[in-house]
Amino acid sequence: MTSNNRKILVTSALPYANGPIHLGHLLEYIQTDIWVRFQKMRGHEAYYVCADDAHGTPIMLKAQQLGITPEEMINQVREEHMADFADFNIEFDNYHSTHSDENRAFAEQIYTRLDENGHIKRRTISQLFDPEKAMFLPDRFVKGTCPKCGSEDQNGDNCDSCGATYSPTDLVNPVSVVSGATPVLKDSEHFFFDLPAFGDMLQDWTRSGALQEEMANKLNEWFESGLQQWDISRDAPYFGFEIPNAPGKFFYVWLDAPIGYMGSFKNLCDKKGINFDEFWKEDSQAELYHFIGKDIIYFHSLFWPAMLKGANYRQPTNVFAHGFVTVNGTKMSKSKGTFIKGRTYLDHLNPEFLRYYFAAKLTSRIDDLDLNLEDFAQRVNSDLVGKVVNIASRCASFISKKFDGMLSTNIDDQALADEVMNAGDSIAAHYENREFGRAMREIMALADKVNEYIAVKEPWQLIKDADKQQEVQDICSLGINLFRILMIYLKPVLPELSAKTAGFLNDELNWEGHKALLTNHKINKFKALLQRVDMDKVNAMVDDSKDNLVAAQAPAAEPVSPHLADDPISPEISFDDFAKVDLRVAKIIKAEHVEKANKLLQIQVDLGGEQRQIFAGIKSAYQPEDLVGKLTVVVANLAPRKMRFGMSEGMIIAAGPGGKDIFILSPDNGAEPGMRVM
Ligand code: 2FM
Ligand code: ZN
Repeated sequence: MTSNNRKILVTSALPYANGPIHLGHLLEYIQTDIWVRFQKMRGHEAYYVCADDAHGTPIMLKAQQLGITPEEMINQVREEHMADFADFNIEFDNYHSTHSDENRAFAEQIYTRLDENGHIKRRTISQLFDPEKAMFLPDRFVKGTCPKCGSEDQNGDNCDSCGATYSPTDLVNPVSVVSGATPVLKDSEHFFFDLPAFGDMLQDWTRSGALQEEMANKLNEWFESGLQQWDISRDAPYFGFEIPNAPGKFFYVWLDAPIGYMGSFKNLCDKKGINFDEFWKEDSQAELYHFIGKDIIYFHSLFWPAMLKGANYRQPTNVFAHGFVTVNGTKMSKSKGTFIKGRTYLDHLNPEFLRYYFAAKLTSRIDDLDLNLEDFAQRVNSDLVGKVVNIASRCASFISKKFDGMLSTNIDDQALADEVMNAGDSIAAHYENREFGRAMREIMALADKVNEYIAVKEPWQLIKDADKQQEVQDICSLGINLFRILMIYLKPVLPELSAKTAGFLNDELNWEGHKALLTNHKINKFKALLQRVDMDKVNAMVDDSKDNLVAAQAPAAEPVSPHLADDPISPEISFDDFAKVDLRVAKIIKAEHVEKANKLLQIQVDLGGEQRQIFAGIKSAYQPEDLVGKLTVVVANLAPRKMRFGMSEGMIIAAGPGGKDIFILSPDNGAEPGMRVM
């Protein structure tokens, strides 16, 4: 135990309850987990809490799409998330949900306090409304023509083509992504949190010097452009908490998401008898840290501290942002197989490899981190297997076979021992400052020295000489001891390897243990501690991550989830339902580009006497002229849908990862237009 015992509460961002955990998420959980494990090892009272972020329109719609209740869906997803985290050795003290009693109570309390303190404003705004679904449409659920450059099929808030940002009400020809209907403008009263009232307090916080430099710069930009009131209400239908005394109005998901940190901690306090107020009261002496990605700095460094202040709670001690994960130098991509889910990784590789690789590359800054898969295999093999574990495997068998598992009472090289033991403070400082890469480099440099020592001493030669037996025991005992200290230093990063090492050495690997060597101490028989990373397994993981199911169709509305391959198989249908789908062989008689459409081709097909016009999203894969004359398969009895460019009277069946790799189904030449496909 260190004497200056700190109370520390730590959180990672709450993952949404509608999709799987992927390697981008895992950077943050691994970073936080290492930091908290380090704090606990140093004897501090530290807690790490998290939860699923369960509310909001996307979650409501996804559950609808799956034909289950949002509650069923979020429970299911939370189980999956928890299993993934556990298997990556992410050790939360509590993992809750924002859809919980505790969170409802805090959300209502904080909102009520803000309202009583005059920080909630009400005003009527006009927003796009889907008349078919009878719901207001969030920005990402509206598409249309960019008001600046005229590109079709652009998002509700920004244009992919010219980069313009705008409000969905500015879109030309807007379409609801949910139903395909044309949205109408509708008025509704909304509640706003008065962020500008907290400008001074937030500026003081920014100037305190505690924040990461890049974050302070970002905040200053935002102060310069002026803080805005924040819309915290949403109208029914919405999956969330209803606002007290405002029937039909719900808290926007981002209001109760950070409050979920408190909800999860309260749930832990109730289970464990921890004093909640000690951590959250206005003048709390406890430390509170939020680890987050760079995309959600605004919420955590402006809204959240201001909400806490306005509701008479303490503010975070600090907010630590990290960058994004790229794989092999580019954004994670489904078609390249580099959008890797946690579970897919675990199917092929040891979680500690990823923990080590991320640790080796992490700094305290907000830079992106590249997971280069070749470098990953090489680095793990060279550092963990070739340097650290190698020390133990070189020394252990002599100790077991020749000295009955006993470590010597002599210290063969005190200077080397001192060097390794004395590095503890510097390594601890790197951990504390979230400079994990530096910590790893320092540890590996020590491992190099220990290996060099063993190589120079050559115990495998000395053992042949009857007079040198004691020397061999002394050398190998020091080797094992220094391996032990390196494993103490690595314990926050490699909990599983540390546990195996602890079993092998009959020692708990406590942090304070780095200051002493084990002498006259019995160890157990050495068993292989770690397998090398096999590049074949890395490649298999990439293959398994490749998307092989992309709807090449462009229906009037995009599917709700942009990540089709993440979607579980849809609910089962009966044979009768299936039999309703009339698939027919069709001959493409005409195909042409659609002006201003990014993805669509306009195709005329012959269904054996009857001609149809179909818009298909296969432009990235086919030239119109190459399609003419081809046979394909269409859904012939799909209700016609009005699209922006005209009616689409059917659907062409296609599959593939996307881009150039979309393949329309092509029946053999014996098939005739109009034939039923069975
Ligand atoms: O960006 C996200 O994935 C959010 N679900 C993070 C929420 S963090 C906290 F505020 F709850
Ligand atoms: Zn544009």
